[in-house]
Amino acid sequence: MATLTIRPNNPLEGTTTVPGDKSLSHRVLMLGGIAKGTSHVKGWLPAGDTLATLNCMRALGVNITQHDDTTLTIEGGGLEQPAQPLDFVNAGTGIRLMAGLLAGQSFPSILDGSEQLRRRPMGRVTKPLQQMGAIIQDTDGKAPLHIQPSQIKGITYTQTTKSAQVKSCMLLAALYADAPTTVIEIAEGRDHTENLFRAMGVPITVDGERITVEPFTDLHPLDITIPADFSSAAFLIVGGLITSGSNVTLTGINTNPRRTGLLDTLATMGATIPQSNEQTQGGESIADMHITAQSLTGTTIAGETVVRMIDEFPILMVAATQANGRTVVKDAEELRIKETDRIAVMASELQKLGVKLEEYPDGFAINGSQALHGAVVDSHDDHRIGMSLAIAALVASGTTRIEDAGCIHDSFPGFEQVLEQLGADVIWEA
Ligand code: S3P
Repeated sequence: MATLTIRPNNPLEGTTTVPGDKSLSHRVLMLGGIAKGTSHVKGWLPAGDTLATLNCMRALGVNITQHDDTTLTIEGGGLEQPAQPLDFVNAGTGIRLMAGLLAGQSFPSILDGSEQLRRRPMGRVTKPLQQMGAIIQDTDGKAPLHIQPSQIKGITYTQTTKSAQVKSCMLLAALYADAPTTVIEIAEGRDHTENLFRAMGVPITVDGERITVEPFTDLHPLDITIPADFSSAAFLIVGGLITSGSNVTLTGINTNPRRTGLLDTLATMGATIPQSNEQTQGGESIADMHITAQSLTGTTIAGETVVRMIDEFPILMVAATQANGRTVVKDAEELRIKETDRIAVMASELQKLGVKLEEYPDGFAINGSQALHGAVVDSHDDHRIGMSLAIAALVASGTTRIEDAGCIHDSFPGFEQVLEQLGADVIWEA
């Protein structure tokens, strides 16, 4: 198993970027596969999770050429019955969105994944899909999922979980419905599916929290450059803020406001992160970010901000240990059903680095200005835990070794190289 060893002696300095957006990379594969024509994709994320979805799309008969790691052509035209169960490995986004896409096909399919994925809740997609007339069975609320062909019905559905994956799953099934489908959002989850639908000619209207999609299977192919993933940039943003002397520029980062709750939180903590080269492409906003080391103050996060920074709480915990004063997070119970229980796992691993914190069922509290010491810690096979611990190691005294670090490449291939390029003292052992 890979390990990542970090010695904390250097500021982070320089200009770099991070790999392509994971959410967009999954969606582009799926929508490119059903489009009428060939899609051209640049900036695609070649990571563990998205490669799992790529392999599933190939197993569904879609011709995908990878010209280099990040450049694809996808020959659309529809899907064929897979010969075997589809293996989404650790990719929760892959399996949940594909459940919606496959529910409307004229062939049966089985969707499965790793032991880790088999522990995650799937009733959140199978129940609303059943209300849409899908014939889909989970296994005690988990994967594997078994789908039989059926006629999808257009329905109006008010979300019961604050999940963009569930919303997207339903919007994908809605393409095959017999009437329009309306999903009523209870929190402003990421809207990449809606943006891609518009770019591909799908009839979609968004009226406040009501998203309505008409049945449509003549999607135009895509010609898209996927921007860099804000959720990957988040580790370098916090690393630059808390490592004294740092001065980092990150280029071409997706700044979709439904993804950048962490920036709003850091602003309330006193951080100033100037942006430049702002542009919009395919409904997604993009900018360069300039991060310098600066002092932070504690804050409280609850309510609508939570969903807009749902993947950024592990790294926020690291920032909170270095802030002045207390940081409190509430309404974030979804963290307990991510790749791991991210509240419990971060609490136990940060404690090994000397951090004291309080755990709540739906969040945590951390008093700042804590001194961290190096230790042997474990990612628990969760990429965002592994990267958060690596950033914590930059401000710990002594050496930190992160075990089971290979999962970092589930979303951020080359993480260790980017840290090294910025001046960190890093040893990666495969
Ligand atoms: C994602 C939605 C979020 C997020 C995940 C990616 C997506 O999950 O945590 O990393 O691409 O739609 P939930 O919808 O379960 O919150």
